[in-house]
Amino acid sequence: MFRDGQMGVYIHWPFCAAKCPYCDFNSHVRERVDQDIWIDAYVAALEYYADQLPDKQVVSIFFGGGTPSLMTPKSVERIIDAVQSLWPVANDIEITLEANPTSVEIDKFIGFRKAGVNRVSIGVQAFNDDDLKFLGREHDINQALRAIDTARSVFDRYSFDLIYARPKQSLSDWEGELQNALKHADGHLSLYQLTIERNTPFFMRHSRGEFKIPDDVNGAAFYHVTQDIMEAHDMPAYEVSNHAVTGMECRHNMIYWNMADYIGVGAGAHGRYYKGGRKYATRDHAAPEIWLKRVQEKGHGAHEAESLNQEDILQEALMMGMRLRDGVSIERCEHLSGLPFSDHVDMDRLDIVIKEGWANREGDVLRLTREGMLRLNALLPYILKA
Ligand SMILES: C[S@@+](CC[C@H](N)C(=O)[O-])C[C@H]1O[C@@H](n2cnc3c(N)ncnc32)[C@H](O)[C@@H]1O
Ligand code: SF4
Repeated sequence: MFRDGQMGVYIHWPFCAAKCPYCDFNSHVRERVDQDIWIDAYVAALEYYADQLPDKQVVSIFFGGGTPSLMTPKSVERIIDAVQSLWPVANDIEITLEANPTSVEIDKFIGFRKAGVNRVSIGVQAFNDDDLKFLGREHDINQALRAIDTARSVFDRYSFDLIYARPKQSLSDWEGELQNALKHADGHLSLYQLTIERNTPFFMRHSRGEFKIPDDVNGAAFYHVTQDIMEAHDMPAYEVSNHAVTGMECRHNMIYWNMADYIGVGAGAHGRYYKGGRKYATRDHAAPEIWLKRVQEKGHGAHEAESLNQEDILQEALMMGMRLRDGVSIERCEHLSGLPFSDHVDMDRLDIVIKEGWANREGDVLRLTREGMLRLNALLPYILKA
């Protein structure tokens, strides 16, 4: 799917208008953000990577957050222009921006399009106002629908996110909501089951018993209903939480799951790339202002790049590939890591996993079944040799 030398560029914009009570992403609320200063830093960090990785071709740019739709179109354009001037880019480059559907942000869609964005991923989260309020969102359902309609007329492609298995949401509520959401979809949806993350207000409220979320058994029922409905609409999950009509998958995310190269620029952003025959992992400083200061002082905001060893690469290839409906090629894991698969994966345990119906193997390809996807986080440590 990706050729050697191709890479993605991830830009992390770490600011939000308000912090949602369920979210533990690296996102921060600031009264004022001087975008010119921040964009100077992004451009400087991109120049640093261009020095390091001059021979790459860029196939995708992804503005994630935080809330990158709080950026001005001019800021987005400066970053896209910088990428295009520093590397050759693919003719069919995908440029995605995560957008929150408030009126202010919708009004910038045309500006984002002019800046070069060709795909948006909209954080709709719920299709009713009560749940949007419960989730602490800044938009209502009418704004969400306006954002979707505007995205349809402005961008080549769009997707939106929903969070399901919410407190008080019954299975039939969710079925109805998803059927309704599908009327507004265009080939791609990201559907996440609500998780209660530590260090969030929801964690406190949940542990105080203020609300309940579905237990494992009910959570599984939500997952299966979701898969049934999405498969019936020809939008099966191509990854745990991502659904698309064939050909409409998010190319940028496929870079991560296929172990292709990407750089990550912005507070807390990660990168993975080959350089001089070695694979490196990078992680930018997580605190926005420290990141900015580091870039201003050193030209980049990353901690020291870590050279990945062969075991790391094999584990990561397996971990990423198992998220995909199309599974992971054992030969590719071996090719990328230079290690025999069976030296690091317990083949007896893998047999058990297959007999239990959680995975299947066709020739060289290992795939999780639906039941296996539900157990993804437990299965990997189980099959990896210590
Ligand atoms: C980077 S985040 C948010 C992007 C954008 N700022 C927004 O809020 O729409 C990407 C997605 O992760 C999902 N998400 C975040 N926290 C979650 C949680 N605790 N449980 C389930 N989904 C979550 C939401 O659907 C969100 O749109
Ligand atoms: S869900 Fe999105 S808008 Fe809400 S705090 Fe997280 S990144 Fe910001």
